[in-house]
Amino acid sequence: MTFGTDIDPDIDPDDTSTNPSSGPRFDDVVQRRASRRTVLAGGMAGAAAFLTTNLLGATPAAATPPSRVRATELIGFDPIPLGYDDEVVVPTGYTARPFIPWGTPIAGDHPAFVAGGNTAAEQEQQVGMHHDGMHFYPMAPGPAGSKHGLLVVNHEYTDENYLHTGTSTTPAKSTWTPEMVALSQAAHGLSVVEVNADASGEWSVAKSPLNRRITANTPMSVSGPAAGHRLMRTSEDPEGQTILGTINNCSHGVTPWNTYLACEENFNGYFRLDPDTYTPEQQALASRYGVGGDRFNWATHDSRFVVTGTEPNEPNRFGWVVEFDPFDATSRPVKRTALGRLKHESAYVQVAKGGRIVVYTGDDQVNEHVYKFVSNENWRAARARGRSPLDEGTLYVAKFNDDGSGEWLPLVHGQGDLTEANGFADQGDVMIKTRMAAGMVGATRMDRPEWVSVDPNTGMVYLTLTNNNSSAKVMSAANPRKPNPWGHIVRWNETGGDHTATTFEWDLFLIAGQGRGSGDGSTIADEDAFGSPDGIWSDPEGRVWIQTDGTQPLGANDQMLAANPYLTDDAGVPQLRRFLTGVPGCEVTGVVTTPDQRTMFVNIQHPGAGSPSQWPHLDGGTTPRSATVVVTKDDGGVIGS
Ligand code: FEO
Ligand code: CA
Ligand code: CA
Repeated sequence: MTFGTDIDPDIDPDDTSTNPSSGPRFDDVVQRRASRRTVLAGGMAGAAAFLTTNLLGATPAAATPPSRVRATELIGFDPIPLGYDDEVVVPTGYTARPFIPWGTPIAGDHPAFVAGGNTAAEQEQQVGMHHDGMHFYPMAPGPAGSKHGLLVVNHEYTDENYLHTGTSTTPAKSTWTPEMVALSQAAHGLSVVEVNADASGEWSVAKSPLNRRITANTPMSVSGPAAGHRLMRTSEDPEGQTILGTINNCSHGVTPWNTYLACEENFNGYFRLDPDTYTPEQQALASRYGVGGDRFNWATHDSRFVVTGTEPNEPNRFGWVVEFDPFDATSRPVKRTALGRLKHESAYVQVAKGGRIVVYTGDDQVNEHVYKFVSNENWRAARARGRSPLDEGTLYVAKFNDDGSGEWLPLVHGQGDLTEANGFADQGDVMIKTRMAAGMVGATRMDRPEWVSVDPNTGMVYLTLTNNNSSAKVMSAANPRKPNPWGHIVRWNETGGDHTATTFEWDLFLIAGQGRGSGDGSTIADEDAFGSPDGIWSDPEGRVWIQTDGTQPLGANDQMLAANPYLTDDAGVPQLRRFLTGVPGCEVTGVVTTPDQRTMFVNIQHPGAGSPSQWPHLDGGTTPRSATVVVTKDDGGVIGS
């Protein structure tokens, strides 16, 4: 990326590599692993065959469901075909209803939604735009908790055309006003919404004091190694302790102490990098994180998003994981800097041996890395001392070896090359420059890491790698196709089943695409064709829900499938069935069920982006609106059964 130039709004910034490190690339690893056994002579199809027969199910040890899970009955619905219509489609016997679309009044004066006509002040009292990661927190014990809870929803970004005009017309950059910037900032962030189901299963929004909007202007604290650091200080915040807002909140995590973790993904494009004199350190940070572009026109009227040589640090205050307590509407969110600074996708929380907290997180850009944080101590003990388990621990980055083994490499100041001579004067430097630190220790470059999920029954960790068509892609065993237009899913077992372990065994769960018959290297059946896996979630019974964001086979709409890791075919490929298809232009992202698994919430994000849509067709409206979809089974059964 050229330093100081604008980002092309038509190019997904994740598709450009800013990683100059020499770490092994996943496709290289597969190629080396394969070539040693001389099975790659057949090219990509040969690679796929090799992967299918030699990796899938070989290592790590095949997932073993607990006896209560009857593998052959885990998935009971009839799969649906690829979708092309402007409706969300689910299998026969299921119903999907749109819920809490962008603009739904939830707080304050409960202002009504007006397509393209709400003020910033009104938007702050309404559900934000572009729903993404999400969690349902039950608000009652037992069965009642599946009828009443808090929905917390990330709002990743905004489509400025629908936001400001309600139509496909995008306002010219020269016409932007301060109010338009404020509206865009108010539509970002998160929503907390108390929801109830009535006796018929119809869900509604409660007028609750817990309902809350967090936006790009909500004051937040900073904790961990980067709090107060010289690179976190600005003229407005000379102590480096108070940050306004969170942006580009993609996926999320949930802690056992019932807080929510919102990830900051593509924060870099919100800033304008002005021509100026920059120090080598400032230049390195801006180019490695791709800062610049003013993608949302905020810099025009909000100087906080203008980067100069004398005011260079505001971008360093983004790219973090933000924790907040959804059950306290006055609670101040905290940026937890011990989890590293990157384009965080999910922050999946796993309680490990000894009650230590492990947080898996991916950095979604071409050739970026996968990380895990391990807390120093038992989470209850830390909290009893008034400490956050997320503030004290070690951040590791993954190295996928070509023999199916893997290592977690610690990012600790003073260890290895992470020294002052290399630009890491303290642990705050290591966290603010996480990407540089990861490159220095030899982490594996991956095909755009997205969500991580852990099977609650087996401890198997799943990671989606959405795609990688960059000419800069580095191949490896764990990233075996170049180009990789369809993506794949890696999984691993931590050594000894211990999520704090520093070694693991990995393999490929599946390789996405048009299907085995197409010869594109995919391992899945033709009827299960899908591409660009992004969201992934293992439900309590072990179904792996896979959501897509990007190009689909045969030009179809984005979709969600269910995989059964306990039932594989002769080639070791898991049973896979398409469960939901979205609408034109959308991505399908965010999935969770109520505790009884009888209501599922799924998000449809950015309908109408690039393709015409009027979904969700509510109240005669024609403006496409991101929304949650409530999925129920008509017989009241478990979703997916
Ligand atoms: Fe926001 Fe990486 O998808
Ligand atoms: Ca995503
Ligand atoms: Ca994505």
